[in-house]
Amino acid sequence: DEILDVRGSLLKWYEDNQRDLPWRRISRECFNEEDREENEKRAYAVWVSEVMLQQTRVQTVIDYFNRWMNKWPTLHHLAQASLEEVNEMWAGLGYYRRGRFLLEGAKMIVEGGDGFPNEVPALRKVKGIGDYTAGAIASIAFKQVVPVVDGNVVRVIARLRAISANPKEATTVKNIWKLAGQLVDLCRPGDFNQALMELGATVCTPTSPSCNDCPIAANCVAHLRSKCDDSVQVTDY
Ligand code: ADE
Repeated sequence: DEILDVRGSLLKWYEDNQRDLPWRRISRECFNEEDREENEKRAYAVWVSEVMLQQTRVQTVIDYFNRWMNKWPTLHHLAQASLEEVNEMWAGLGYYRRGRFLLEGAKMIVEGGDGFPNEVPALRKVKGIGDYTAGAIASIAFKQVVPVVDGNVVRVIARLRAISANPKEATTVKNIWKLAGQLVDLCRPGDFNQALMELGATVCTPTSPSCNDCPIAANCVAHLRSKCDDSVQVTDY
C-alpha cells in the first residue's frame, strides 16, 4: 500500500544518496547487538553527533565530532572529563549547554552501571536527552521502531500529507510526531529516520524544493496539488 511505497522509495534513495559521515561509519563497524561495548559505542557516537547536529551544519560538525572522539573515544572517557575541557572542545559550536549536558549525561549513565539506555523512556531520563535525541539514539543505535522529528522532518511530512496548520505550533508538531510514528519503517527505523532528515536537508528544502529529484514525489499531496492547481505551491506547506 501507500505507506509501504513511501518506506521502500525513501530507503532506496537513502542507500544511493546517503553521505559518508564518521558517526555512520562507527555504527557500521560496531553492529553486534549482542556485544555490550559495541552497543555502547554506537549509542555514544549517535548521541554526540545528534547533539552537535542540533543547530549546527553537518559540514561543521564532522571536524568537531572527530576531535571529540579522538579525545574521548568512549562514554567512560567522557565521564572522566572536566567541564573546562568540554567547553574548550565545544568552542565555536555555540549553545554551550549542549556540551555540558553530554558530560553530565555521560556521568549519569556510567554511575548507573546498567549500560547505555536503549529505549525512549529510559533515554529521556538522561540529562539533556529530549524527545528528538531519545528517538534518534533508540532508532539509529538500537533499531527501536520509534520516530524522530526535527525541523526538516516537520516540513517533509507537512508537505507529504498537505498539513497546512502552522508548523511552529505545538499541536501541529505533536500531530507530525504521530504521523512520523505511523510512517517509520519496521525493519530499518534508523535508516528510515535518517533518510527523512536527509531528504529535508538536501531535497525537500524550505524555499526551493527539488521535487524532480524526490523519491516520494508521487506520494506527496502538496506536490500533486501543485501540479493540478496553479494557485498551490509545495512551499505553501
Ligand atoms: N540531521 C540531524 N541528524 C541527522 C542524521 N542522523 N542524518 C541526517 N541528517 C541529520
